[in-house]
Amino acid sequence: MSELTFPTSFLWGAATASYQIEGAATEDGRGPSIWDTFSRTPGKVLGGDTGDVACDHYHRVPEDLVLMKELGLQAYRFSIAWPRIMPEGTGAVNQAGIDFYSRLVDQLLAGGIRPFVTLYHWDLPQALDDRGGWLNRDSADWFADYTAAVVGALGDRVTNWTTLNEPWCSSLLSYAVGAHAPGHHDGGEAMAAAHHLMLAHGRAVPVIREHCADAEVSITLNPSQILAPEDPTEADLDAVRRADNAYNGLFFGPIFHAAYPEGMLEDTAHLTDHSYIHDGDLEVISAPLDNLGVNNYFPIRVRWSETPTGNALPGCEQVEETTPRTPVTDMGWEINAGAHKQIVQRSAVESGLPVYITENGSAWPDEVAPDGAVHDTSRIDYLRSHLAAVREAIDEGTDVRGYFAWSLLDNFEWAFGYSKRFGLVYVDYETQQRIVKDSGREYAAIIGSQH
Ligand code: FCB
Repeated sequence: MSELTFPTSFLWGAATASYQIEGAATEDGRGPSIWDTFSRTPGKVLGGDTGDVACDHYHRVPEDLVLMKELGLQAYRFSIAWPRIMPEGTGAVNQAGIDFYSRLVDQLLAGGIRPFVTLYHWDLPQALDDRGGWLNRDSADWFADYTAAVVGALGDRVTNWTTLNEPWCSSLLSYAVGAHAPGHHDGGEAMAAAHHLMLAHGRAVPVIREHCADAEVSITLNPSQILAPEDPTEADLDAVRRADNAYNGLFFGPIFHAAYPEGMLEDTAHLTDHSYIHDGDLEVISAPLDNLGVNNYFPIRVRWSETPTGNALPGCEQVEETTPRTPVTDMGWEINAGAHKQIVQRSAVESGLPVYITENGSAWPDEVAPDGAVHDTSRIDYLRSHLAAVREAIDEGTDVRGYFAWSLLDNFEWAFGYSKRFGLVYVDYETQQRIVKDSGREYAAIIGSQH
């Protein structure tokens, strides 16, 4: 196991997100979110699944804490449901929502598990989408006020704060591709949403510091290694550049270099006049952070196409995303630990910050075997190879501080509903029974083997 021996200070965790696990969608004053609306819209989520019940985590925190302890987790990354805290999105704070997370934090700390809190993992209050959602510039103020309410209540105990999870998904995937809530199909809107999300992030950073003196402030991005075809043409390299801008530069640029990546605003000028960018925004967006969260699962292969490909990403109209190399996971995602290492290293260079892997993992069609266990050897292989890649990155000088497996539990996988299982722990959605998978035991063994 030596290749999986990590520095003593390396932090071992697992991650979840509110809408994916909590359920209790209408309880204790929670308002509706855009994912409640989206999942109820026919054809948007596989099987018509919703997060109404999910893993029923809202009612099962003690039981799920026992699982975390069984896995030997040192840290737990979860997100706060904005519509539990502010059912209308702004204004009055729902104390029951605060209390739920406050109890969770207390129980984690009592169990010796460090909470890593993400403020926004995509469940925007529906009331705010009714006012334009992330297309409305006021969203930055709404988010700053919500942040003050949460950090004001939990900042005495929580120090690891992440503003946004994967703003790529809540902008491009949600407003251009239409695969996530609110399901729009407009590249110009997607650019504006990305900008407003980053502005909200930048506005929230000083608010977090104000309410939590020892805060370690972060954002979690999902950068993707973009792979060119063999013997690329000039045009293929331009496809790589455009895809890299749309997947990576759009966020690395403003957040870490106070500038949009070269060429991107020009490449997307047919979609928008970019009037959503105001003087001074980039200074706000590039507020200094303490670390960067990286979520990464797979690389993306591209080439240039002479004809439009139907690619909805801004500026990528002639970028073709080609078939992943095998093996792939149950999501169809290429398994490529080398590319994982590369994007982690690039993220550290771009940001100049220590990095936490805030999500990594794989989906497989798990089944409970006759012996009552879940023998998920493919997930174990994926886990080990990606941890080895992280270890290599550390050996080569990259400051990676911790790893959070996605996910603690099987859960609501967005547009795929409950059809994709990512958990280290199996969930029987009929009975809500949890079974630690073989991969969960393996993860516990790896954690337990560290000095
Ligand atoms: C990431 C999301 C997370 C989960 C994994 C599989 O994009 O942050 O919620 O769905 O993918």
